[in-house]
Amino acid sequence: MFVEPQRSDPEVLAKKRAVNPNVRTPGLMEWITDDDGRIVNFRIAGETTWSRFVDLYSAWFFNNFVTYIPLHFVRQAYLRAFGASIGKDTAINRGTNVWSIRLIVIGDRVSIGFRCLLDARAGIAIGDDVIIASDTHMIAGGHDINHPDFPPAPNPPDPIVIDHHVWIASRAMILPCLIGSGAVVAAHAVVVNDIPPLGIAGGVPAKVIGKRNPDALRYSGKFKVPLF
Ligand SMILES: CC(C)(COP(=O)(O)OP(=O)(O)OC[C@H]1O[C@@H](n2cnc3c(N)ncnc32)[C@H](O)[C@@H]1OP(=O)(O)O)[C@@H](O)C(=O)NCCC(=O)NCCS
Repeated sequence: MFVEPQRSDPEVLAKKRAVNPNVRTPGLMEWITDDDGRIVNFRIAGETTWSRFVDLYSAWFFNNFVTYIPLHFVRQAYLRAFGASIGKDTAINRGTNVWSIRLIVIGDRVSIGFRCLLDARAGIAIGDDVIIASDTHMIAGGHDINHPDFPPAPNPPDPIVIDHHVWIASRAMILPCLIGSGAVVAAHAVVVNDIPPLGIAGGVPAKVIGKRNPDALRYSGKFKVPLF
């Protein structure tokens, strides 16, 4: 018997789109079932076998080779060529891994550290002057853990949206959420809920532990050392 997988809340997506109208998300998943109604696979509306192949192997090649090339402009040109939107004066350092390159949207003067993970299979949108410290993982996708067939969930997928002047400290883990402008995520936090603008959040799961001075948001997030 077919069991409908978890649906996403349209209001959650609308709230994220209001903060960053450029956010890109995949289409609705259509389930492929066997004779008993069990989910054996899925199709994403608007995608073809070729586009899924390109999506998967462009990221695979980046993660295994391109991300280790010590030339910043080569790495960025590759990501842009496969559809990522990356603003001016933005840096993505070596060893950072990606999935679904075309669903990555990054603003101007953003610094992304070494060995981060941008798993954009449900979409990742980052505003301007955001600093993301090394070893941070951003995972915008998941599974319906209460469904007998463990399908991807929710449907349609729920992206990560990070507004401008956010600082994410080392080794944080960001799951689908909205991080408000000027917020800070403390080192090693696991963010499972939205963080309000100027909120300082830390811990597992991350909770608001302080508030940032709104006058502190005049800096540029541009990476300060020569780019390799
Ligand atoms: C978030 C951060 C900036 C806060 O620094 P701070 O303002 O000096 O905060 P304090 O050390 O005074 O701590 C304030 C409170 O937050 C708590 N706290 C601090 N860091 C925390 C963390 N990573 N996780 C959970 N709680 C944290 C403290 O325990 C303290 O709680 P208390 O008031 O109940 O005692 C800092 O802890 C941090 O995570 N720095 C990241 C460094 C880093 O990753 N650098 C990368 C370079 S880009």
